[in-house]
Parts: sequence; C-alpha cells; structure tokens
Amino acid sequence: MLLTPIGEVRERFEQLFQSATVPRVARAPGRVNLIGEHTDYNEGFVMPMAIDLYVATAFAPRDDRLVRVHAVATNETRQIELDGLAAPGGTEWSDYVAAVAWALADAGEHLSGIDVVVSGNIPIGSGLSSSAALEMAVARALCHSSEIEWDPPRMAQLCQRAENIFVGVNCGIMDQFAAAASRAGCALLLDCRSLEAEPVAIPDGTVFVVLDTGVRRTLSQSAYNERRASCEAAVDVLRSGDPSIRALRDVRPAALESMEHLLDPESYRRAAHVVAEIRRPGELAESLAARDLERAGRVMNESHASLRDLYEVSSPELDAMTEAARGSAGCFGARMTGAGFGGCAVALVGSDRVDAFTAEVAAQYASRTGRPAQCHVCTPSAGADLV
Ligand code: GLA
Repeated sequence: MLLTPIGEVRERFEQLFQSATVPRVARAPGRVNLIGEHTDYNEGFVMPMAIDLYVATAFAPRDDRLVRVHAVATNETRQIELDGLAAPGGTEWSDYVAAVAWALADAGEHLSGIDVVVSGNIPIGSGLSSSAALEMAVARALCHSSEIEWDPPRMAQLCQRAENIFVGVNCGIMDQFAAAASRAGCALLLDCRSLEAEPVAIPDGTVFVVLDTGVRRTLSQSAYNERRASCEAAVDVLRSGDPSIRALRDVRPAALESMEHLLDPESYRRAAHVVAEIRRPGELAESLAARDLERAGRVMNESHASLRDLYEVSSPELDAMTEAARGSAGCFGARMTGAGFGGCAVALVGSDRVDAFTAEVAAQYASRTGRPAQCHVCTPSAGADLV
C-alpha cells in the first residue's frame, strides 16, 4: 500500500534514527493563490488558500546542537551545526532547513538540535509553494522541540526572512503566511501591509481546482526579481509626484493614469497591473460572500488577462490551460496562480460538474499543447500543525 508523506516520515525516522523516542509529526500545507498576484511585495492584498497537499516532518529533539535532516524524496541525510549558521547560505533543499534554524536563532530563540525526516506531495516548481511548506513544517518541528511558542504570523515573517536573507529568494509574505496561518474550509483575505487576515468561506457547491500545466518554472527567479525591481523603481518615480506614496498600494488607478507620463511604457504596464490587481481580492471576497459566481469568475479572468498582457508572467501553456478551463462545463473563471512562467492555473467550478470539467480540460489541454494536465480538486486546509 502507498504511504502518505506522514506515513513515510514516521517509517523512515524509525529505520534511520532508531531512537528510543517516538517522533512527533508536523505538517504544513502548500497553497493556491485565488487572486492578488504579485501584490504582496507591493504591500497590497492577496487571497491564498492552503490545500491538502503538504510537507510532513517526523522529529525528535537531541541533547546537542546538531540538526540531522533526511529527505525521503532524495534519500539524502545532511548535518547542520546550529553553531555554524551564517547567512547567506545555499539554495539546496537542506539550506531551507538551515535557513529556518538561522532565522529563529537570529530572532533570539534558543534552539536545541533535532533529528528530522522530511517528505511531501506538493509538486516542486509548480507554483504551489512547496518551499514555504517545507520551511513551516521544519519551523513547527524546531519550535516544538525547543519549546518556542507557536505564533503563526510571526513564524511567517521569520520564514520569509529565512528565504529572503539566507536562501536569497526575494519573495513576499503570502506563501509563508498561508502555510502558517490558514484555516480549514476557508481562503484568507490578507492585507500584506498590516498582516490582518480575514477568512473567506468557499461557497457551498463550488470548488477550486488546481490545473497543473506540467511545465516547471524556469528562469523564474531572475524574472521575479526583475518584476519586483520594476515596481520599486516605479514607486521611486511616482513618489516625486506625490511624497506620500510608499508602495504601489498607495496609488489609486486614476492617480496612476494621471502620472503615466512619468513612467516608461513597460514600467507603466507593470504598475497598472499591480494597482488594479490589489483591488481584486476584495472584489472576489465580496462576490463569493454574495454567491455571485459569475462576477467571481469574471474577476479571476480579468486577473489572468492582466498578468498575461501587462505584467507578462503567463506562458503559452498557462494561457492554453485557462482557455480550456473557461470553455469547459461548470467553470465560472480561471487564472494562472503563483509567480507564473509555468506551474499551475486555478479554476472556480460548480461541484456537481467537476468530473466532467476535469475530463474536458485535460483532453482540451492535451490537444492544444501535446502535454498531459494534472487536475487537483482542492480541499481548503489548515496551516501548519502537529499531527
Ligand atoms: C511567489 C512569491 C510570493 C508572491 C507570488 C506572486 O509565490 O513567493 O511572495 O509574490 O509569487 O504573487
């Protein structure tokens, strides 16, 4: 029988570490972002939903300052000395583990060593935040072993810092926040400036379906950093016209139009996407609360068009997938999700049509691109917890 990641980490821990202690197990979810793309690092709004794909850790404390970490997927074991941690580190899987330990220690926490086994079922590079899930499942293990209070928003900030400064990936707060602080059954409407988060219920009779293009992100890191830099450069220019602007969050659509002449055409397109997209999570939340599914779908479609035409982070496969989804039975709307340049799309679908929908999208996508599509009907899940 196939083991779940939770079963795998338990079994491997026993085989490998043969410790007298029965390990504890932690779990942290991946996420699909429903809307609000490339807005988190502009201090705007996002609406991620934690999903039922996850990373699990089995762990037991040690009485020294060593972290021994084993990955089931690659069958590798690494040793990390808690006393030798210094940023920047590398970008391998075990560096994410070291990064979390570094961020906790750098925030003044006293850590004890642990033995830990890691496994998961989130496809890597698919835009479903496997790295934030890894960070959070490790953070949960380290905090439990070292008796550090579990405070989800604080952990999200520490893990974002781990990724920004130790691993060197300049991500925003969304993925770590979703992996830490999500609630079962809901998405989160998150204000990335104040970190206030409101649960958004998924209307009865509807599901969000993740549609994996099978194309793994390439060159996304440099393109992501370029987009981010372009937003920051636009803020610098716009601030010369209005000193109260701290981030694109502070710019209204009409104000941006009136300042168009200050920006070059590409920077204007990028800023125009962000300024409009920051308003979409609120609109989607309202539409879902009112069960106005046509409007919910429309706002998702608009988001995709903006990411494709203005922010230019879609791909031919993501466009083909979202078009296939929109043309299929029971679909209200579809968009790419995550950073872009490959990975997954997400569609809002009536539950009673979901089987016909996934069959039709898979066939359509395959005939347009020659590639298989993987569809995953998401169960909205809770943030990192102990099993
Ligand atoms: C990646 C980053 C997030 C966010 C999205 C785009 O997932 O990690 O912080 O910027 O891209 O919305």
